[in-house]
Amino acid sequence: MNILVTGGTGYIGSHTCALLLQLGHQVTIIDNLCNSSPLVIERLQTLSGKPVSFIQGDLRDHSLLQRVFANAAFDAVIHFAGLKSVAESVSNPLAYYENNVSGSVNLLKAMREAGVRTLVFSSSATVYGDSPIQPVQEDLPHAPTNPYGNTKSLIETVLRDLSQSEPGWRIACLRYFNPVGAHPSGLIGEDPNSPPNNLMPYIGQVASGTREWLPVFGNDYPTADGTGVRDYIHVMDLAEGHKAALDWLASLPEQGFAAINLGTGRGTSVLELVRSFEMESNRQIPYKIVARRPGDVACSFADVDLSARLLQWKAQRSIALICADTWRWLHNNPRGYHSD
Ligand code: NAD
Ligand code: WQD
Repeated sequence: MNILVTGGTGYIGSHTCALLLQLGHQVTIIDNLCNSSPLVIERLQTLSGKPVSFIQGDLRDHSLLQRVFANAAFDAVIHFAGLKSVAESVSNPLAYYENNVSGSVNLLKAMREAGVRTLVFSSSATVYGDSPIQPVQEDLPHAPTNPYGNTKSLIETVLRDLSQSEPGWRIACLRYFNPVGAHPSGLIGEDPNSPPNNLMPYIGQVASGTREWLPVFGNDYPTADGTGVRDYIHVMDLAEGHKAALDWLASLPEQGFAAINLGTGRGTSVLELVRSFEMESNRQIPYKIVARRPGDVACSFADVDLSARLLQWKAQRSIALICADTWRWLHNNPRGYHSD
């Protein structure tokens, strides 16, 4: 297939591109590099042994998108591009609505003009908010608790409306749980802003000596060891989930729309992840229990029945492999994409 990948130099996009290229697909990446490095393109070329077509540009630039679609006949679009910091979205909601919602609407307009109507969209478990029901099933009502989550919920609504408004649209909204890990080559991985907001990159920085200790946000949750429980999914499992979604969309006789969880269905606590990382990296991860982080939920994990049924896909990789692959990436690239 010939696939346009928005946000393809980012964390999840780059791993999905690596898989698609390995499987022989043609990939064109569009990214404005606001949260990623152009070195990713070189790394993808090294991994695949093929040239990778890259356009540096912004999804809000409609004439650029028209040119991109005029120059190639894409079979499908995978839309990763977006801003993703919950905290930043609270302090600057307009930037999030403008970038994520307007960028998506602009992309959809250009797709419609070009007659490309197959789309996989990066949604998030954040649309479920603080659900008391776990594991979360796709038919729960949206209940996001911050502007970032609102943008994901809004875009899903736009996509559902669009799929019902005219024939031919085939759309999968993939609701990721907690993506972690890195490509097994150690060539691409997550290169977060500093200090990292998320648990795995923070653990990584403690293991590599950038930070002295990990703050553990609360140990009095109603979970087995009192720390927060999440559904951590290896980024290569996630990449395979995108491929499965493309195959499912291609198999549909006419239009279709679905929102589908991509998770493992298993919860892991903060302290379990710390212990596994210590084992795989052979490093100590000192930590201190600190106050709960405002807005955190005790537990979040996916119901995986729909993904298994529709996509014939299941996450395969273990927490130990997630930690081993993360450590290889960090060990080989102590400064992320700044080390070259
Ligand atoms: P990322 O920041 O690494 O990648 C996103 C990419 O999009 C970046 O390369 C950035 O430069 C690009 N981008 C942003 N706005 C753009 C615009 N207007 N035009 C062109 N390019 C633009 O993030 P990621 O972790 O790879 O996440 C990918 C997608 O998955 C995002 O939509 C995110 O909201 C969603 N998601 C991520 C997680 C997670 O924990 N990483 C969880 C659930 C959903
Ligand atoms: C995981 C667990 C923390 C950091 C966030 C976004 C969500 C989604 C993924 C995009 C929790 C604990 C964390 C630390 C800690 N992104 N923790 N010390 O909160 O599940 O989800 O990223 O859609 O929208 O909200 O992930 O990695 O931040 O936290 O103890 O330094 O680790 O309390 O229990 P979260 P996380």
